[in-house]
Amino acid sequence: MSEFPNPEAAGLAGFIDASPTPWHAAEMAGRLLSSEASFVRHEPSSSPLDSERGCVVRGGSLIAWSWATDAVAESADKRGIRLIGAHSDSPNLRIRPRPDSGAVGVKQLGVEVYGGALVNSWLDLDLTLAGRVQLTDGSTAIFSHNRALLRVPQLAIHLDRDITAEGLKLNKQTHLNPIWGLGAPVEGEFRDWLAAQVGCSTSDVLDWDVACADTRPSTSFGQQQEFLAAPRLDNLCSAYGALRALQSTTPADGPNIVVLHDHEEVGSTTATGAASAWLTQILERLALARGIDRAGFLELLVRSTLLSADMAHATHPNYPDRHEPSHHIDLGAGPVIKHNVNARYATDSEGAAKFRQACAAAGVGVQDYSHRGDLACGSTIGPVAAAELGVETVDVGMAQLSMHSAREMMANADVPAMVASFSAWFRPSGRIANS
Ligand code: CO
Repeated sequence: MSEFPNPEAAGLAGFIDASPTPWHAAEMAGRLLSSEASFVRHEPSSSPLDSERGCVVRGGSLIAWSWATDAVAESADKRGIRLIGAHSDSPNLRIRPRPDSGAVGVKQLGVEVYGGALVNSWLDLDLTLAGRVQLTDGSTAIFSHNRALLRVPQLAIHLDRDITAEGLKLNKQTHLNPIWGLGAPVEGEFRDWLAAQVGCSTSDVLDWDVACADTRPSTSFGQQQEFLAAPRLDNLCSAYGALRALQSTTPADGPNIVVLHDHEEVGSTTATGAASAWLTQILERLALARGIDRAGFLELLVRSTLLSADMAHATHPNYPDRHEPSHHIDLGAGPVIKHNVNARYATDSEGAAKFRQACAAAGVGVQDYSHRGDLACGSTIGPVAAAELGVETVDVGMAQLSMHSAREMMANADVPAMVASFSAWFRPSGRIANS
């Protein structure tokens, strides 16, 4: 880890490498909070949620809080709840329910593309598998195989002469199934392998969610080690920043919440995604455990603000024409406020003003992103969460290149800048009075 020029970049690399799937990320986030900062882990279905610093984990999602339970809390509650939301999932290749397949003497696993992956980036990598397995005793086993296991080989250029003129064309059904053995496919072999991974018998395996992952660890590169190359920067980078910021707070700072939602890359409409009622339900349970009734809770929500944190597009040096010319985003120049008048991002001037104050309090620069008018704009959990919660929201993120590639990049210096600005977001001094 010493290769990284600052401890926050090293910490992010460690978090990413330990989190090949959203289920690992939520689990690691829970562990990070409970080991380093004495957060109490609650079962998602048991009340009251009365610890001042706590968290709940459901599948690949996590909600964590720092919220006083005594009367001192009342003045801090006047500023409303400060939230930071990020997503825990990333595009990848997922194993199908009946994956055992193959051709011409080679065993393969059937995969389905999860989210908007740049599928070319999954070719010719040393891939492994990670995920979770549902067992007959009602338990869920999380596993991560740490050796290279699979490969999606690209077709040789001699057999694909059109590639030079027309570019690489990949069919998601036929061209992405990884190789994982020699011989004829055997039905049930994958289930046997999974059982061995989690140390049970094949008949105990009821179902699974399993993803492919690159085996290479995150690394630092560049003439002066300026850059971080890693899988899943979108959006484990923001998740890490949110967790580090929450660790830096005390309950007396006011109610502060971190939510990591699974399923952003596939539309957020799931039980624990950003379009679910889950966050609102947990917030109300937290309020009830502090003696705040429903009317008081709803009033509190109106005073609250969500920082929706997701990665931003740095200007690509080889494609500057793909960016709005007056809104170039630099790597290593601090957090980015994402603006879109058609609400692909939830930012408006009120939310942006609050985040600018947090950046000023943290002493970090801030950049403004605006998408080209002739390109369709991406989105985040921001608009969805704003609508679900009825809470003012601002979309921000750190600059990166290669978004949705199996291996992305950002500037190492942006990691501590993110942690500082997110920490200031949670501090009472970083607030302005709500009208
Ligand atoms: Co994202």
